[in-house]
Amino acid sequence: MTTPAEQTMPTPDTSVFDGITADADAIVARYPVGRQRSALLPMLHLVQSVEGYVSAAGIKFCAERLGLTEANVTAVVTFYSMYKRQPCGEYLVSVCTNTLCGMLGGDEIHEALKRHLRIDDNETTADGRISIEHAECLAACDYAPVVTVNYEFFDQQTPDSAVELVRALEAGDLPMPTRGAPPCTFRQIERQLAGFPDERPDALAGGGSGGEPTFAGLRLAESHGMADTDGDRLGGGGGDAASGHEQAGKRVPPTPQSGDREETTRVTSEEPPQGGVARKAAEHRDDAEQGMRADRGGEDD
Ligand code: FES
Repeated sequence: MTTPAEQTMPTPDTSVFDGITADADAIVARYPVGRQRSALLPMLHLVQSVEGYVSAAGIKFCAERLGLTEANVTAVVTFYSMYKRQPCGEYLVSVCTNTLCGMLGGDEIHEALKRHLRIDDNETTADGRISIEHAECLAACDYAPVVTVNYEFFDQQTPDSAVELVRALEAGDLPMPTRGAPPCTFRQIERQLAGFPDERPDALAGGGSGGEPTFAGLRLAESHGMADTDGDRLGGGGGDAASGHEQAGKRVPPTPQSGDREETTRVTSEEPPQGGVARKAAEHRDDAEQGMRADRGGEDD
């Protein structure tokens, strides 16, 4: 039985998705039989690659193909901030205002961009080109404050550099990000997020995601003579992947090896290792305990 409200609501027309039914089937086929509902997240990205947001028709399309209710799909769409309920601009500019970026100027960058574009947070310019949003940690704290354009990183920004970046987008230019692939449109990146490859010939032109700030902590630990739990110096030498090595003058972090889990279990189930970081932690603990005893006038001795 339908409610009076449902009787007056038009049924969403899903024909806009007719061109992606084979892609939707390909996504569903990635999951075991009986677990098709797990395909919902990539399916929603696929829907966004068509309309630039998740419309009522997009919700209906996903629900029908995955055997879910529209309420099920809506609950997921409204939970995750990467699913947009309003049409997103061609370029989504995300400004991290989380703790580290916020401390280093993320809020000022966000304000400067809103002022420049004359729009508020989660709005899109009248020509449909640029949307702006503040974002929680974008997982690039070592390059704070960061801005992304369709999820490609522009590191260590200032209000001026961010406005310059947006001016370039307004002028039809596509500046290369600090790291990663050249930016593409919001709909193109949504297709990639649905799990389809980036077909652009220059897709691999950008550099990797690592860089000096990422390894700063490691170098600091090395300069203090800290060792890993095997007693090796961090940075190890020896050139094997398990302990990390230098490659083309850059530090390559350790690669997890088969058996690492077992080793971790063994180490943590016995006496704490006394090498490197653990030894320093134990020393600090001993110093603190001595300090507390001294404060109490040596009453424990
Ligand atoms: S706080 Fe901005 S990337 Fe982590």
